[in-house]
Order: sequence, then structure tokens, then C-alpha cells
Amino acid sequence: MRLDKFVCKSTDLTRTEAVEKIQSGVVSVNGTPIQDEAKQVHENNCITLNSSILVARPFRYIMLHKPADTICSNIDEVYPSLFKYLDIDNSSELHIAGRLDADTTGMVLITDDGRWSYHITRPTTLCTKVYRVGLSRPINDNAAEQFKQGVQLQGESQLTHPAELVVLHPKEVLLTITQGKFHQVKRMFAAVGNRVVSLHREAIGGVCLDVEVKQWRYLSDAEILQLSY
Ligand code: URA
Repeated sequence: MRLDKFVCKSTDLTRTEAVEKIQSGVVSVNGTPIQDEAKQVHENNCITLNSSILVARPFRYIMLHKPADTICSNIDEVYPSLFKYLDIDNSSELHIAGRLDADTTGMVLITDDGRWSYHITRPTTLCTKVYRVGLSRPINDNAAEQFKQGVQLQGESQLTHPAELVVLHPKEVLLTITQGKFHQVKRMFAAVGNRVVSLHREAIGGVCLDVEVKQWRYLSDAEILQLSY
């Protein structure tokens, strides 16, 4: 990670304060003063501030139940950021692994471990996301087969990856996908002549949402590991 990020993760300094310290020459990496805040460092390096060894706080891994009319961003926009429900220190260090639309509810994973979130969100990992979908019209008989084969989303050159559809009621289905393109689920149902009226993410990578709306909890070690493979 960048040196300024490491200094933030191991002190209570803001990013601006960390950069000032680094540029003033009081931060050393393996005994050498470093004034470049963008230098890449590793946790195994011995990093000191005014000769005191810095130890980075451990990564955090969180599950939060997103309500509707909130946004997956660190700052408020038209709707409030869902970080307002995360009453913990240094929450600005955290980011969301796989955003949901403002009107979508359900499971959101939040972390400060960039490698872990990249693993969850990149499509080649095949990390499953399960959505409960409410539809405006009864689902077509052949939709499950179409999703299995892949459908053509507007503006995309390639078919979607194979997805699994389970019909609960004619207008309520469970959809399991491994991609996370912009408005993916809504665009997939549009591609088969339907319209999403409600969308709720129930699970990611086999870990199921089990906290009430607006509540959060830390993931267990087993869950963190499960989502790493
Ligand atoms: N697909 C969508 O269309 N919206 C979401 O919020 C998540 C997946």
C-alpha cells in the first residue's frame, strides 16, 4: 500500500497530516527517511514516525444490511451514504465491495482490504451474488434457459455469464450471478422483456445476510476466508 495510507492506518492522522509528516522527512522505511508519500510499502517493512515503530491496524470486514434510499458511497449525494449506519472509528478508510443501486436493499460488504474486495467483485473469480427480484410481469417460461445461456445487455458486446434463475412465484424470483456490471440485474430482466420492481441482495459467495435492516456486524474469520477463494 502507499506510505501515506500506511501512516493513516497506523495512527490517527488524516491523509493530509500524514502527507505533511512524510514530506517533512520524519517517516522512515527500513531506516531510510522517505519523503515520497506515494511510495509503495509492505506491512513487513519497518516503518517509523519520529523513530517510533508504526503498526497498521488489522483489516476490517463488515456485513451491512442496506435500506432503500441510501447510496453506496463514502459521501452523501442525493441520498445519504449508508456509512451513516456504521458507527465505528476511521470509517473513511473503508470502501464498499460491490455497490448496490440507491433503490436496492440487502447485503453490502465493507472493508479496507483492497485485495479482498477486488477478489469479490472481479467477474473471473465467479463469486456468486444472490438477488431476490420482484417483477412487473410474470416471468417467461424460457427465462431460466436464457439466463443460463447468457443474454445480450444493451450496449454490451458480449453475452452475460451463465446465471441461475429460481422461480418462487410468477413475479418473484431468485437470481444468482457472478458479474456485477452497472445495473446488471435490471438490464438482464429488461433483456427478457420484463422489469424489476424490487431488488434485494440476499447473499454473496455463500455468506447469507443475517442482520436486520440498517444493522451491521463484523464477518467471522471463516466467512472472510470463504470469500477469499
Ligand atoms: N443489479 C442491479 O441492477 N442493481 C443493483 O443494485 C445490483 C445489481
